[in-house]
Amino acid sequence: MIDIAAAATTRNTRSTVDYLTTTHEVLESIIDQINDGIVIASPEGKISYYNNMVRELFGLSSESPVENLKDLCGINWSRRLARAAIDAGGDYGTLVASDRTIHFEEKIHAGDSIRFLEFTIKRLFSHSRHHEVRVIVVRDVSARRRLEATLQSGGACGLISNSPEMLKVFEKARQVASSDASIMLQGESGTGKSCVARLIHEQSSRNRYPLIEVNCAAVPSTLLESEFFGHTKGAFTGAHDQRQGKFQAADHGTLLLDEIGELPLHLQAKILHAIEDRRFQMLGSNETLNVNFRLVSASNINLREAIDSNLFRADLYYRISVIPITIPPLRERISDVPLLVNHFCDDLVARGHKDNIKITKAAWQALLNYPWPGNIRELNNAVEHGVICSDNGVVDVDSLPQDIQRFGRSASVVVTLQVPETSPDKSAEENAQIIQKFELQDAMEKAHGSKTVAAQILGIDRSTLWRRMQKAGLA
Ligand SMILES: Nc1ncnc2c1ncn2[C@@H]1O[C@H](COP(=O)(O)OP(=O)(O)OP(=O)(O)O)[C@@H](O)[C@H]1O
Ligand SMILES: [Mg+2]
Repeated sequence: MIDIAAAATTRNTRSTVDYLTTTHEVLESIIDQINDGIVIASPEGKISYYNNMVRELFGLSSESPVENLKDLCGINWSRRLARAAIDAGGDYGTLVASDRTIHFEEKIHAGDSIRFLEFTIKRLFSHSRHHEVRVIVVRDVSARRRLEATLQSGGACGLISNSPEMLKVFEKARQVASSDASIMLQGESGTGKSCVARLIHEQSSRNRYPLIEVNCAAVPSTLLESEFFGHTKGAFTGAHDQRQGKFQAADHGTLLLDEIGELPLHLQAKILHAIEDRRFQMLGSNETLNVNFRLVSASNINLREAIDSNLFRADLYYRISVIPITIPPLRERISDVPLLVNHFCDDLVARGHKDNIKITKAAWQALLNYPWPGNIRELNNAVEHGVICSDNGVVDVDSLPQDIQRFGRSASVVVTLQVPETSPDKSAEENAQIIQKFELQDAMEKAHGSKTVAAQILGIDRSTLWRRMQKAGLA
């Protein structure tokens, strides 16, 4: 418990004591309601306060003692803090003595299950009482980590990403999958809208039934109505047989209306009613059919602008956009480029291309500098082009599609790149250090200064990159 009452008595007034005691009780009951664990401990690790959530997060029974930080699942705090210090770019001593907030994550065994807990530690210091405490906030991020793990291993629908914006998209997709709300996916062409629609379907309870896709731009407008609702034999010239429509095919499953912005105005009212009532009639029939599907729509044009231009009905827009999800373009999540390039190379190898594909610095520069108007689809094609046109498995800038090549030769890039100054007069170790420094500078340059991306380019983790940069005098 926090020793607030003791602090109050130093002021020696009864009313202050009452006031502080009441405040203390109110605060404590609020802190007990929140979903994060909160621990207050001395620098030596002695716990003076923890809320209810702590026992739950660490899977501790009501009898287990919670007196010292080491009672919390045997986490080696000093080792963990030292690692956090390296990750944050400092040393252990400076970090623990500073007022900087420390973050780290730990995988723990809580009872029978494994949990991923995120720790945020802040040092608080009372100058008047010369008293120092650490406030530790513990959050359960297991669901997020599991989702990331699935996605990073390319499992769920082949989607991979390590950008925070995309991981938020995946997380939202997971959250909303279990509901029946209509979802609107907006994003430029090739950003992965169809893939996210598949992810939503796969994670929903409708996944035993089909996901039916209609690309509203690909079907001639005269045929769209029969594509949606189906037709009876003889309903119109050329209708030789009865044919089921996509609405009916999607019964119990998910209906994906892709490029819905291309839906002709004259059909929009009819579609709105069919979606609202989940009822429709086949062309040429008076019988009303009931269907039960989850609607996901996708568009690469801005539908609000289409509404302003009277090309899209506002009532339909609101009906289909109960949960809007926007997928960011690739140029806004450039850290995905190395990950996706590796993924597409692996894919090509799995499809029979030669193993051990290498990508030159200039080609990496082109891939990282190009703005990718066609997004991931274009990147996929560029990688395939690069590998097919590679010279003995080495993808150089000339192996890439023409539009992309000039992004690997821009003046600024050529000027900033140095050649490592190794020399036969230097020892092998010195030369190795020079080359390593060059590689680090080069990776940082390609990654536009992002350590996460640079680490991916070099195939090492971020803390190794940091250590090497420090050793090379680059940090
Ligand atoms: N995060 C990702 N990881 C791996 N591959 C991806 C990812 N996102 C998209 N892709 C791939 O990129 C291509 C384009 O994706 P998708 O068809 O889902 O884009 P889209 O936004 O629906 O495009 P359009 O607007 O043209 O319909 C597909 O081959 C898909 O597999
Ligand atoms: Mg699509």
